[in-house]
Amino acid sequence: GQRAAFLASVRDSVGLSLDPRRQPRRPAVAAPADAPFENAADTDPAVARSRRWAAEVLVRDVRVPDGIRIASVDDVDAAVARAHAVRERWAATSPHDRAEVLRLAARHLEEARGDLVATMVQEAGKTVGEADPEVSEAVDFARYYAEQAAQLAEGAVPGARFRPEGLTVVTPPWNFPVAIPVGSVLSSLVAGSPVLVKPAPQTPRCVQVAMGAVHRAMDELGVPRDVLQVVLSPEGEIGRRLVTHPDVARVVLTGSIETAELFSSWRADLDVLAETSGKNALVVTPSADVDLAVADVVRSAFGHAGQKCSAASLLILVGSAGRSDRLRRQLADAVTSLAVGPPTDLATTMGPLTEPASGKLLRALTTLDPGEEWLVQPRRLDDEGRLWTPGVKYGVQPGSSFHLTEVFGPVLGVMRVETLDEAIALQNAPTFGLTGGLHSLDEEEIETWLDRVEVGNAYVNRHITGAIVRRQPFGGWKASSVGPGAKAGGPNYVAALGTWSDGPEVP
Ligand code: ALA
Repeated sequence: GQRAAFLASVRDSVGLSLDPRRQPRRPAVAAPADAPFENAADTDPAVARSRRWAAEVLVRDVRVPDGIRIASVDDVDAAVARAHAVRERWAATSPHDRAEVLRLAARHLEEARGDLVATMVQEAGKTVGEADPEVSEAVDFARYYAEQAAQLAEGAVPGARFRPEGLTVVTPPWNFPVAIPVGSVLSSLVAGSPVLVKPAPQTPRCVQVAMGAVHRAMDELGVPRDVLQVVLSPEGEIGRRLVTHPDVARVVLTGSIETAELFSSWRADLDVLAETSGKNALVVTPSADVDLAVADVVRSAFGHAGQKCSAASLLILVGSAGRSDRLRRQLADAVTSLAVGPPTDLATTMGPLTEPASGKLLRALTTLDPGEEWLVQPRRLDDEGRLWTPGVKYGVQPGSSFHLTEVFGPVLGVMRVETLDEAIALQNAPTFGLTGGLHSLDEEEIETWLDRVEVGNAYVNRHITGAIVRRQPFGGWKASSVGPGAKAGGPNYVAALGTWSDGPEVP
């Protein structure tokens, strides 16, 4: 009885956002304590909707609002000039009016749910069950950031004035091709900055369809399209021109650490706010509820075929958990029972990679390093190299490549140690610090772990992906984050997208 009650209490608490050093100076606004948003993959309405969309996505032919046209350097310059020309006017609108754009955009995104789901399935290879809650997350971002506009209004922070950052370039990733661009674009817009969004080359349609919904809201409210433009530029010279343009004040990047480094190599003084890579581990101690732990590990490691910055890449087993045949068998059973297949098939629980496996990922899927053995060996199911069965390797060694580098695909590495202290040391060893989990029913272990784990998002007895807007503000620590460090979907995010001045502004 007591054990069950304790389990229930920690099960729900539990995605904490750590790193107190990263609080923006002001205004500090506490998260409201009311009900969470609707974004939850496994709620009944989401499952029911998924079934409905699944029947449709095979046949739905989604119209891309403005067509797909690759930008040239001249297009980039022209787009920047148009955005630059409206920046003062947009900054001078009232935060309340800007919030109206977001509220209406939320409604249009909701109306576009079917198109967005179909486009994500067709273009990104997400399953319907993954794409549908991503639309909910986008809607949640729109509503949540609209609420935050009030923090920017004249007099909201006595004696201080907010100035938006200015022309902002948003470069979202391909793995959350709707929620992340929508969140990044709308937060900057509501802060008063015009935005140019450059879709990831793998998922331009997802961005176009999502921004089409935002444009409809802008049109209805009489906001000029120059305030938000989609610039489909290839990487290389044209992307470089966009990111390093002298009139661009800030770049909001969600992508790999390599891309963040590339941007900085292009322009050393670039003002970039970036969420980058992770090497995330879930620790399981002997006190854990094994059924719950295995279910959460599998969900965290293999959701969207492991292609999430937040995904569990390592499972660290403590003491007898590492010797447990039951845990080993349950893990193997759970992983092999995932149904790998095309995303348009409702039976699929793990879909394809967005691009064929190559480099580090291909190596991780096909090679063992010293000390490692396959618990479940991955198999390639197609000619292209996008469809793989999931893999689990036992015996990953401390300091090895798999321990320390991001792999971004459906392979989980298992490490074994004797004590929680050793587990935390292994978990903290990578330079990254994005997400991390602990499965334990021992209060002392939970406290020790929360005190010492170095990740932005720490989850106890919960899967470590799928942060919910407002409930689990999402952002990294250590090398996983660049810039002011306010968390997406957190209470101070919009207020950090500009500068605060004391006293009246100097003209
Ligand atoms: N926000 C995404 C997650 O939490 C990356 O999984």
